[in-house]
Amino acid sequence: MYSGNYEEYGNTFAYNVLGETTYSTCEPRNIQHFLANQFKDFAIAPAKNGPFFPLLGDGIFVIDGHGWEYSRALLRPQFARNQITQLENMEEHFQVFKDCIPDGTAAAAELQELFFELTVDSATHFLFGESCDTLGHRRDILQGKVKQEIPSGAAFAKAFNETQSHMFTRFFLKGLHSWHNPKQFQEAVKICKDFTERYVSDVVELAKSGKLNETTKSGKYVFLQAIAKDTQDPIILRDATMNLLLAGRDTTGSLLGWLFYLLVRYPDVQAKLRRAIVADFGAEYDPSRITFESLKNCKYLRWVLDETLRLYPTVPINMRTAIRDTTLPLGGGPDGKSPVFIPKGSHIEYSVYAMHRRADIYGDDANWFRPERWESRPKTDAFGWEYLPFNGGPRICLGQQFALTEAGYTVVRMFQEYKRFESEEMDPFIKCFSTLTTCVGGKGVLVRCYKE
Ligand code: HEM
Repeated sequence: MYSGNYEEYGNTFAYNVLGETTYSTCEPRNIQHFLANQFKDFAIAPAKNGPFFPLLGDGIFVIDGHGWEYSRALLRPQFARNQITQLENMEEHFQVFKDCIPDGTAAAAELQELFFELTVDSATHFLFGESCDTLGHRRDILQGKVKQEIPSGAAFAKAFNETQSHMFTRFFLKGLHSWHNPKQFQEAVKICKDFTERYVSDVVELAKSGKLNETTKSGKYVFLQAIAKDTQDPIILRDATMNLLLAGRDTTGSLLGWLFYLLVRYPDVQAKLRRAIVADFGAEYDPSRITFESLKNCKYLRWVLDETLRLYPTVPINMRTAIRDTTLPLGGGPDGKSPVFIPKGSHIEYSVYAMHRRADIYGDDANWFRPERWESRPKTDAFGWEYLPFNGGPRICLGQQFALTEAGYTVVRMFQEYKRFESEEMDPFIKCFSTLTTCVGGKGVLVRCYKE
């Protein structure tokens, strides 16, 4: 789905659906052109605002121009290093996470589902100062403490999932997105909005009564309280948090799911990663050794993360729309090496997935998981546009460091808690499940995690 057509039609080609022309490309120079060099000729809103509006409103993901500049300026300071490195929050959630994993001698765990719960718990903690605690609910059920009723946090996480698959369908319907608006989608959107609005109205009340600074004095960073110092508009606050929930949850959860999917299939990489982790962080949990810097400096861990995102970029395919007549540098002429004219209103679809697997860029082993490739191909500016899991240009992902810190932390802690990981399922046919992001389909990531 993400790479087949390029093999047949070349790295840039056009297609037409119901009168709408889309240019599809996996050419780094073209991608650099519309994401950076000619940024102003292309917009995000025409392709995304309509399909995503019910949930995301006018949040950063779906708007352009001044509205986007405002949102980016509002959110950017919140990703300063001290905010994103509250590792004690991550440990709190990791402790519950591991309680949900059975010992490998008894059963396998579906890790991907658990990673999604871990990331929604930590994202809500970061945003609202209070986690929706889906893992806590799961653990209580496992320990027979509660019945299967879903408390509001877990109901929110479930509804959030439901919205993703509908928004995916709407996205591909492009201009016809309003044809897909079933009752389940509307109900799920309502649950998500109600959940978020509860926190927003609390914070607006705090701000009105002048108590916002008192709560932040406690030293614990809470995203919603921090941005409420700049605006108390409830719609702006709700849209900002909803957009960040979308950004922060599935992405990191999917990265971790694919990473363990790959590690159990490549035992040599698993063994090498274990040696690197033990050397840099110790075999047992020692909070003083896991820091933002030490996670960044553990080379093999970084290569494993980079290589996973190369093979399975969380956002495999993306879209822009030309807002004036313009060009792309490559794709025209008989050999596809000349510029191509792009009329106003055309869509541009770009597949990072296909680009990351091009043999002419990554070599004949482009489809193999080989973290060592990053040793000889360091990420330099010259190489930057061929590797784009976090996008590039003015709209580059704001949460990149947050995501890599959270994912790296989780991997280190997994290796400290468990002595080995084995796959329960070795189906050679990889099933991708796509909503707005991609994750492992089929049975998910069934892994036996052995303590000894
Ligand atoms: C592995 C994890 C992640 C990946 C692969 C990823 C990837 C991306 C990509 C590809 C975009 C560009 C979307 C577009 O312009 O169409 C993006 C944008 C964005 N990401 Fe991430 N992301 C990750 C995690 C996060 C996290 C954890 C956060 C925040 C908590 C975050 C916040 C954002 C925001 C706010 C934008 C919008 C930037 C803008 O439009 O100016 N991301 N991300």
